[in-house]
Amino acid sequence: MPRIVLLGPPGAGKGTQAQWLAKDLGVPHISTGDLLRESVRAQTSLGDEANVYIRAGRLVPDDLVLRILRDRLSRPDAAKGCLFDGYPRNVAQADELDRLTPIDRVIAFDIPENVLVERLTQRWTCPKCGTSYNLVTRPPKAPGVCDRDGTTLTQRADDAPAAVRTRLTVYHEQTAPLLEHYRRLGRLTPIDASGTPEQVAQRLRTALEGRT
Ligand code: AP5
Ligand code: MG
Repeated sequence: MPRIVLLGPPGAGKGTQAQWLAKDLGVPHISTGDLLRESVRAQTSLGDEANVYIRAGRLVPDDLVLRILRDRLSRPDAAKGCLFDGYPRNVAQADELDRLTPIDRVIAFDIPENVLVERLTQRWTCPKCGTSYNLVTRPPKAPGVCDRDGTTLTQRADDAPAAVRTRLTVYHEQTAPLLEHYRRLGRLTPIDASGTPEQVAQRLRTALEGRT
């Protein structure tokens, strides 16, 4: 029952890799960012509260995130294992996750910061299936629509330059300390997340081979 965390800065490619990796492993892809954005779209009170933080590029308070995470983990498919993307984001969340469902491996995406900014500002996403495109590196076949289901692509509000800068600062201050946390626990596997999505996927496969 693999329980794996993908850890990395905004734009590192966690969501892109998680889409195929979750299928490969036969486990659900659990992205707290996606779950929060769903709550925002559904205009729940949690979504409305979280949206203020998301738009600014700041972390949503732990208690709100924990509520949606608990809810997601209570669904039957999570019993098969999980691929976490974007959780945990700080040491308190890591401790909480250990109490809920201890994880086996943390894959850390290693990538230079200048690459991230370009990836994020050029990103367009399918609001229906979640596929992430990039106007420079991974354009859709037809401009502005999803290859898979023809839905009109949208841009995330927090991919605006000011929010991207805040997200990078928040990553360094609050999330990067988790690298040392998991290294000490012997669960950290860093991978080089630069290059094409296919190259990164191959490195991920090699990193996970025989170990899940
Ligand atoms: P979240 O949704 O988790 O966003 P993030 O961590 O900032 O990361 P992104 O989703 O932007 O990047 P990614 O690594 O998934 O990259 P992607 O594959 O899309 O969080 C958003 C917000 O929600 C947070 O700021 C916070 O407010 C809140 N939140 C979420 N979780 C929380 C938590 N646990 N606690 C508190 N608050 C929380 O790729 C990016 C782009 O690059 C795409 O265009 C893609 O096509 C392209 N690309 C991907 N790989 C490659 C490649 N190898 N080469 C070239 N281009 C590539
Ligand atoms: Mg993502």
